[in-house]
Amino acid sequence: SQPLTITKMKNMKEQRQPLTMLTAYDYPSARLAEEAGIDMILVGDSLGNVVLGYDTTIPVTLDDMVYHARSVARGAQSTFRVVDMPFMTARISREETLRGAARMMQEGHAHAVKIEGGEDIAEEVAACVRAGIPVMGHIGLTPQSVHQLGGFKVQGKWEKEAEALIRDAKALEQAGAFAVVLELVTEPLAEAITSSIGIPTIGIGAGRGVDGQVLVFHDLIQYASPYRPKRFVKTYADVGGTIREAIGQYVGDVRSGAFPEEKHAFPMESVIMKQLYG
Ligand code: KIV
Ligand code: NA
Repeated sequence: SQPLTITKMKNMKEQRQPLTMLTAYDYPSARLAEEAGIDMILVGDSLGNVVLGYDTTIPVTLDDMVYHARSVARGAQSTFRVVDMPFMTARISREETLRGAARMMQEGHAHAVKIEGGEDIAEEVAACVRAGIPVMGHIGLTPQSVHQLGGFKVQGKWEKEAEALIRDAKALEQAGAFAVVLELVTEPLAEAITSSIGIPTIGIGAGRGVDGQVLVFHDLIQYASPYRPKRFVKTYADVGGTIREAIGQYVGDVRSGAFPEEKHAFPMESVIMKQLYG
């Protein structure tokens, strides 16, 4: 099947058809997400946390993103893939933003990039869109600014903050963004933003009044996620537990001699051994 298009996403918002999005970081996670029928894959810079083991997304580089985006592209060729612009890469100059976004498209085989920020980066967003690079916005809790925000806190709790976030969403739409992620904002604010713009909102910790949802792969299936359990995550499997148990059994089997068995071993009469040893 063909990847979703940004035109269809907008139609889905109008028809109130929820958009589904999940992060993926490598060939197997991408493949499984595609096979499960996800609408969009996000190669999130959350890979800094869940794959590379950093405390924040700040150390993640363009090269890291390209590397992971390429493997996701190989695993999910028929799914719309958005790749995060990592820390500072859309902030220094328009030229640098365009060069980075171009790498995501050409080397990372992305369909779109995602940039954290609102009004303050609207110009960079517009430049990408003019160049034919679709941009997904990301406002609310923006993890690349965690130290400036003073921690992972719910955003838009107070009127001033909420008004600023509505302005950010409108500025992103005006700049040509095709969708916007709302992370960790109050449900009423997310709902207000969703009804005040024409492009789809994708929520994470933003409640029910948005046009779509995104979650982090490792959170969804409890795959050794380093994050503390979060109120807004629903876990659907304990894959980490399954893997740990399987490895534990393997370790036990080797130590006890239960593995390998005769059926795992090559007897002398096997074809290859005959070729090798006559
Ligand atoms: O990097 C990421 O996974 C994200 C989502 C949480 C929206 O940006
Ligand atoms: Na991200």
